[in-house]
Amino acid sequence: MEKFVITGGKKLKGRVKISGAKNGVLAMMPASILAPGIFRLFNVPNLRDVWTMSRLMNDMGIYSELNDSELFIDSRNIHSFEAPYEHVKKMRASFYVLGPLVARFGKAKVSLPGGCAWGPRPVDLHIKGLQKLGAEITIEGGYVIAKANRLIGSRIHLDIPSVGATGNILMASVLAKGSTIISNAAIEPEITALAKFLVKMGAKVEGIGTNTLEIEGVDELCSTNETVIPDRIEAGTILIAGAITEGNVTIESCNPYHLTSIISKMEEAGCEFDIHEDKITVKLDGPPNPVDITTSVYPGFPTDMQSQWVAFMLKAIGVSKITETIYPDRFKHVPELQRLGAEIEMSENTAIVYGGKQLTGATVMSSDLRGSAALVLSGLIAKGTTEVLRIYHIDRGYESIDKKLRLLGADIVRVQTEDY
Ligand code: EPZ
Repeated sequence: MEKFVITGGKKLKGRVKISGAKNGVLAMMPASILAPGIFRLFNVPNLRDVWTMSRLMNDMGIYSELNDSELFIDSRNIHSFEAPYEHVKKMRASFYVLGPLVARFGKAKVSLPGGCAWGPRPVDLHIKGLQKLGAEITIEGGYVIAKANRLIGSRIHLDIPSVGATGNILMASVLAKGSTIISNAAIEPEITALAKFLVKMGAKVEGIGTNTLEIEGVDELCSTNETVIPDRIEAGTILIAGAITEGNVTIESCNPYHLTSIISKMEEAGCEFDIHEDKITVKLDGPPNPVDITTSVYPGFPTDMQSQWVAFMLKAIGVSKITETIYPDRFKHVPELQRLGAEIEMSENTAIVYGGKQLTGATVMSSDLRGSAALVLSGLIAKGTTEVLRIYHIDRGYESIDKKLRLLGADIVRVQTEDY
């Protein structure tokens, strides 16, 4: 096991390159099931979740190899149409193989993802969408078993603009017979990027980037190459690291257009920005202003940045309210932050942060990916030493975050440990 040992108080300065988007590549990798061939994906982040997806696909007969941010995929010899519990329990995104498998092979057996640290993670919208496309679906022994001769295009309205359901149904529909309309579709940049990737493979998709996707099914698709978009959540996290330490940080290889809600809230908090085409400089002298946020679907303030905002508001002089609307229980980071001396009150799905108290270093435990990022951010400003345990959570979605923060002057080291 490994832990981070952080000594707080350093102001971060300098520049760092943002890696490719975890949630972008985790949708593109299963898309390779739709066409037999060689794919090359560029700007792929070296993450535990990418390794998990690779292992799952390897067990299905899809060879993949990541070399220095280039992912080589060979989907010509798929021999298994199953996603076993051992993979899906580790990573919900494994469920993305369902749509492509049914679309190309007419069958799939995929484990239900179960819950995660902050509660249930249903897949009812995925299943309903595939049923509308004509798949016969049964649930047996914790598995979704899907069959279809050939999927038939349909009109599908999503009750919730679910990112995963939009991706799964989109990937199923591109090989269906006839046309499909997905309304109330998610418009997260990772879904837009997936749709563009499918079009490069030969799919016919209109309305890309909007809440209504119109797909004309085709008989077959071809492999292709693509560059993964920058990770907007890593970018937002590093921007907050620069601001929370009252530093001056530039992030490169990012897409400012994907960060508008985060930048807007950070400006409200008093941050100054210098924004260019693919780089952003943030600086903040002194503590931030207290600023309330409510998470919402894109382009609103992302739920994946909620815990990082709680950490940021610990530095503000005053009270701020952070309301979570996507996953109401996504506050596992709060009790750990309270161990550092944070004054936070929970009221249903709102964290009320009484900021301005000096945090004091302690040992804290990660329980999920973004919550652990909040613990690291708080360690950067806590007096003394903070140890963050179970950092495999953070390695799922941040490529070498300790190296990136050290590049900016943070005192953070990765240490082997028996603690867990
Ligand atoms: C994606 O998860 C991301 N994961 C999550 O990022 C992110 O938090 C989430 O979208 C919201 O933006 C990947 O892209 C791999 P949803 P996903 O389906 O697709 C409910 C991270 O930290 N829902 O948009 O699972 C669901 O319970 C991860 O990188 C249903 O009710 O999210 C939630 O309340 C964490 N039925 C809401 O919709 C369904 O069938 C949004 O979930 C599906 C979802």
